Formats: sequence, C-alpha cells, structure tokens
Amino acid sequence: MSNLTRKLSQVLLSKLGGNVDHTIRTVLLELIDNSRDNKAGLININLISEDGINNHKKYYLVIYDNGTGMSNIDNIFLANEGKVNKKGCKNQGFLDSLAYLSDVSGELDILTNYKNRLSRIFIQFDDMKNEYIKQLKEENIDYNKCQEHLEKNYSVWHDNILRKENMKLFENIKNGGTYIKIQLYKDFELENVDPMFFQYSYNENFKLNFMGRDININTIDDICVTKQFKPALCEMYMAIHTSGCEIYRFKNNFNKDNKYYKKLRGESLT
Ligand SMILES: Nc1ncnc2c1ncn2[C@@H]1O[C@H](COP(=O)(O)OP(=O)(O)OP(=O)(O)O)[C@@H](O)[C@H]1O
Ligand SMILES: [Mg+2]
Repeated sequence: MSNLTRKLSQVLLSKLGGNVDHTIRTVLLELIDNSRDNKAGLININLISEDGINNHKKYYLVIYDNGTGMSNIDNIFLANEGKVNKKGCKNQGFLDSLAYLSDVSGELDILTNYKNRLSRIFIQFDDMKNEYIKQLKEENIDYNKCQEHLEKNYSVWHDNILRKENMKLFENIKNGGTYIKIQLYKDFELENVDPMFFQYSYNENFKLNFMGRDININTIDDICVTKQFKPALCEMYMAIHTSGCEIYRFKNNFNKDNKYYKKLRGESLT
C-alpha cells in the first residue's frame, strides 16, 4: 500500500490519447532533462526485451543516470516538492512521458540511490486501465475505483544500505543515481532517432549512451553558432483520443502557429 495523496489514477488516465504535445524525441528530452536537473553527467538510454506469457515479448525503455538520485521517491508522482532554477518546473514531464510511452498500461519500475539510501517503486497499471476501459462504457468514471486498482498494484520499498541481495538490481546505480524502466505499449522505432538530435538539443557537456552508442554531448560540436540558436524541427503527429477522434498536429519549433486538426469519428479529414 502507498500513501498516494494526489489522485494519480485521474492524472494519468486523463493523459490517455489526448497527449498531443509530445513526440518520442520530446519525451526522451523530458527524461534527459530530469537526469540533468539531478546533476547526472552520464545518462544511459536503452531498449530491452523480456519474455512474457505465451512467448509474447515485452519491451521496455530503460533510462538510468549517475545523478544525485531521489531523496523522496514518491515525489516523482506526488509532486510535493517542486524544483527551482532547473529545466523542470511543472512537475508534469515525467507523468506525460510515462503516459506517452506506456499508454498507462504494463509495468513501471523506478529505482533510486540517494547517498546510498535505496528506494524502489514498482507499479503494474493493467488492472487500473482495464477498470477505466470498462467504465468508459458507463455514464461516469469512478476514479476512486481506478485509484483502488492502482494502489493495489503499487509497491514502494526503502532500504538504508546496499545489501548483497540487491547488488544486481542496483548495479547500474550503485554509486548513486536513478534507474527507470517503462514498459512500451508499441514500437517507437527508437533506432530511427538520430543520436545527433541530442547534441543539437543541449548546449551543455555530458555523456549519453543512446541505444548502445556513446555520444559526447558538448558545446563545441553544436551546429548553433551562438547559444541563441536551436535546431529547427518540423513534426507531424497523430493521436487517437479515447473518444475515437483522430487528432493531427503539425508543429514546428520556430513559430507559434501550430496547427491542430480534429477528425471526428466517421468523418474524413479535409
Ligand atoms: N532522473 C531523475 N533523478 C532524480 N529525480 C528525478 C528524476 N526524474 C524525476 N525525478 C523527480 O521527479 C520529479 C518530477 O519530475 P517531472 O519531470 O514530472 O517534473 P519536473 O522536472 O519537476 O517539471 P517538468 O514538468 O517541467 O519536467 C522531479 O522534480 C524530481 O524530483
Ligand atoms: Mg522534468
């Protein structure tokens, strides 16, 4: 059992399908920003697979860093403590990324080592999601019921020292840092993300290992002539809302005139 005060189920489920402001690249940047905010100089992002039932493979995005770790692991969900003078300030980036990558289903494992104090949160979202989908056919959503399913499948654990039996689990962050493993609900084609995208997105120095490739993010190889320039990005994004509407977004990062189109069920897009 946990001490979840914020209706996490409601926050997460409300992000389902309607989360049109992200792409796989911006989600990766959110996760990297969090590591950088916590002083990580080394960040590792990878895709791993595990066998599920009936030989059904499960895929996970794993990100771990050598930052300070979390003194209070619950903060990643409860947002009781905000950050000051950091990249992150809204206490939404992680939940947005989680909803985008997992579709609020499957498993989430978070391990953190803060000054040798270890904490872990493990969540299985499927019961909550199934309850929500069942309720979508009814008139109202009872978030208390969804929350009950979430709390039943939410475990949090703390230990003050790194014991032998936990060595393997915490090996990637044995000197401090955070390890996050998110089950992916679809193939995000991470292999198609150009590692140079990260170089162009940060005017900072740190080491990133992305999908097995080492990238030395630095301020010298920046294509930007001065700190005022960022790469120009144009993206088209499509999402299907839980109501059945298709939402298309045409977005760029150099003018604010982003276009959103909504295609209602049964209509064609003009
Ligand atoms: N890699 C990490 N290392 C340490 N703490 C983390 C890490 N990732 C998340 N956190 C903790 O979780 C909290 C919530 O992260 P989240 O990205 O949702 O919000 P934020 O970074 O504060 O703001 P924003 O919404 O602008 O990103 C952070 O404030 C931080 O305390
Ligand atoms: Mg953040």
